[in-house]
Amino acid sequence: MKVLVTGGAGYIGSHTCIELLKSGYEIVIMDNYSNSSPDVISVIEKLSGKAFPVYECDMLDYDGFGKIFKENKIDAVIHFAGLKAVGESVSKPLEYYNNNLTGTIKLLRLMKHRNVKKLVFSSSATVYGMNNTAPFREDMPLSTTNPYGTTKLMIETILKDLCFAEKDWKVALLRYFNPIGAHPSGLIGENPNGIPNNLMPYIMKVAVGKLPCLSIYGDDYPTPDGTGVRDYIHVCDLAAGHIKALEKLDRIQGAEAYNLGTGKGSSVLEVVHAFEKASGKKVNYKIAPRRPGDIAECYADVSKAKTELGWEAKYSLDDMCRDNWNFIKNQK
Ligand code: NAD
Ligand code: UFG
Repeated sequence: MKVLVTGGAGYIGSHTCIELLKSGYEIVIMDNYSNSSPDVISVIEKLSGKAFPVYECDMLDYDGFGKIFKENKIDAVIHFAGLKAVGESVSKPLEYYNNNLTGTIKLLRLMKHRNVKKLVFSSSATVYGMNNTAPFREDMPLSTTNPYGTTKLMIETILKDLCFAEKDWKVALLRYFNPIGAHPSGLIGENPNGIPNNLMPYIMKVAVGKLPCLSIYGDDYPTPDGTGVRDYIHVCDLAAGHIKALEKLDRIQGAEAYNLGTGKGSSVLEVVHAFEKASGKKVNYKIAPRRPGDIAECYADVSKAKTELGWEAKYSLDDMCRDNWNFIKNQK
């Protein structure tokens, strides 16, 4: 089976490509490297011992995208490509709607044209909005608080409408919780340029001395230690979830949503302490005001993925911190 991986050079895409190759799938990667580097491709080749076609291409370039389908007999698509920074999406909404929505519609039109109707889509726990109480279940009402989240919810809606209209589409909507961790080889992981928005990349920059101090956004939430609780999941567990979703596609009717999380929440302070233990480094922090748009607790009900996909997370928070440290300590 040949799988087109859009955004395959990115953080979650690269780990999933390794897992796909390990599981015997053929892959084709397309990426415009807007948030990744071609260097990742050689690492995927090295770790898998396999070669595969790679296209430097933008999703918005319909003809370039079409060439990939012409030159490869694609059976299914895993669609990671997209812009993902929540704050940036608030200041650049048109860029986010154009890239994520227009790009996805172009992909879907091409898939329809080529009669490729199996898709695994990267959605997000952000679609549960601010009005639900954790643990979040797939059947809860959905809403969003920022343009990035709205692109995810709109794409889910587009895919559900498409599956309603054309019964031969098979779509898995994977709602990721908070992906962290890195490949155990230490060769790939997430290392954003500049000042990170997300907790783990920020902690890592403080631990290696590139940033002086972590601001913890609020210690007065109704949580055990007052700091925000999230469901951190190892990127390798997520990658394995994509293989299970691909295997399930033939038995899916229409578009089906699955939470990919551990089902267990950890507070900001727990993550800081787990990282300190794994790295042996002190992570300086101070308590700062709450960040607008944050909720107290976000963690998954994982029973649907367990029952229907036969998937559950294996790695602990300590494993995630160990692999993050193993990766970051070797970065420049
Ligand atoms: P990433 O930025 O590392 O990977 C996305 C990849 O898509 C990058 O390599 C980027 O260059 C590429 N890309 C972006 N726009 C493109 C375009 N127009 N044409 C071609 N390539 C393009 O992000 P990630 O963390 O690996 O996330 C993958 C997917 O999962 C995204 O859709 C993201 O929204 C979603 N997601 C991520 C998280 C998270 O916290 N990392 C959580 C939930 C959902
Ligand atoms: N936090 C801090 N200090 C920081 C960064 C984060 O205290 O410098 C706290 C936040 O307040 C929150 C927790 O750490 O309590 C996690 O924050 P992240 O920014 O790492 O993650 P979020 O849960 O806010 O959001 C992430 C992605 C979204 C995605 C969501 C659910 O950024 O795109 O997970 O998957 F939608």
